[in-house]
Amino acid sequence: MLPQELVKFKNESKKIIALTAWDSITGSIAEEAGADIILIGDSLAMVALGYETTLPVTVENMIHHTNAVCRGFKNNFGKEPLVVCDMPFLSYQCGEDKAVDYAGRIIKETPAKAVKIEGAEPEIQLVISRLIRMGIPIMGHLGLTPQSFLNQGLKKQGNDFISKEKIKKESEILEKIGCFAIVLEHIPDSLSKEISNNLKIPIIGIGAGTDCDGQIRVTADLLGLNDKQPPFCEPLINGKKIFTTKLREWINSEKLN
Ligand code: KIV
Repeated sequence: MLPQELVKFKNESKKIIALTAWDSITGSIAEEAGADIILIGDSLAMVALGYETTLPVTVENMIHHTNAVCRGFKNNFGKEPLVVCDMPFLSYQCGEDKAVDYAGRIIKETPAKAVKIEGAEPEIQLVISRLIRMGIPIMGHLGLTPQSFLNQGLKKQGNDFISKEKIKKESEILEKIGCFAIVLEHIPDSLSKEISNNLKIPIIGIGAGTDCDGQIRVTADLLGLNDKQPPFCEPLINGKKIFTTKLREWINSEKLN
């Protein structure tokens, strides 16, 4: 699917479901499960690479993992998910030329058809506008933006008047400059509902209530694979416990033979 086709979901009131993937196994699972969008998020820093935050991830890491995810696709489930790759920390904050270079590499060297960028500060707006003019579709990301961890921590955003107005205004700007969708992370339900109603482009929420045009989750959180769970994602299963128990049982039975 191409990024511009996503708006059809909103116009037809069909929920958009997005899952993250970080290798060929999770890519194959997310595709077969029926995700409309597969995001190679920079959360792979924690779920695949063992870092504490998303900050250390590089463009090389993102390209490597995006290609691995896409090699896992079987392409025989009747639809092709839209593949989006995160622009990692400092790949777009250092100016437009550098951002074109890095986003261009992601688009040229992987099957991703769009990149995701956090924030909408004036410098970031310039970068996003330039990338869109150069033919690179952009998914925005507002609210809790984990690349601002050192300033923001991981706390819920949009709780006070100023922060709420900032998120509303920035979402309008992102639509105006041409983003095809926006992720809203960890903000009040009423705020994401208002933004989803006001904007024409799809709003995809995580920890932002049920009234968005779609939902996105980190697959490792949904499957309960992490030691640390975000407060806004109830795991579907306790994957880590299930897999560890089964493997321990197998190890113990093998040792008896
Ligand atoms: O990196 C990521 O997985 C993300 C999601 C939380 C939306 O940006």
